[in-house]
Amino acid sequence: MGKIVWSKDYSVQSEYLDHQHQNLINILNDFNQAIARGEGKKSAYTILNRLVQYTEEHFRDEEKLMEIARFPAEQLHAHMKEHEKLTEEIFRHGENWSSYGKEALPEIGLFLKEWLMEHILTSDMKYSKYVANVDDTFLSVK
Ligand SMILES: [Fe+2]
Repeated sequence: MGKIVWSKDYSVQSEYLDHQHQNLINILNDFNQAIARGEGKKSAYTILNRLVQYTEEHFRDEEKLMEIARFPAEQLHAHMKEHEKLTEEIFRHGENWSSYGKEALPEIGLFLKEWLMEHILTSDMKYSKYVANVDDTFLSVK
């Protein structure tokens, strides 16, 4: 599966959130590479857990920044629902992990890849003009 390579076209006009998106992409690339190399479920599971943890952190920060940037409440709510759905989905994969055969893993990687890129390019872009001029330095970059 092809690696995702960061492009300026993915920028949401917040250096902080762009940085987090880049980290997310890196973790996801690691996940897909581990699967493609057939490194086994164990190593991919470790990366999946890292992805769960980082995704939660990122969604929290992103939602906080959207709120501060006065992103319209209705849209914010819909956006948070998307985050919630994805978080549940990744959790579910974590829980079911031991029952998956090796052949099921590439599909999970592909789903996560498509979800993330679709989410950044469609949903996240909607808040870009709101966060563009907001001071995000209060969030500590990780
Ligand atoms: Fe988002």
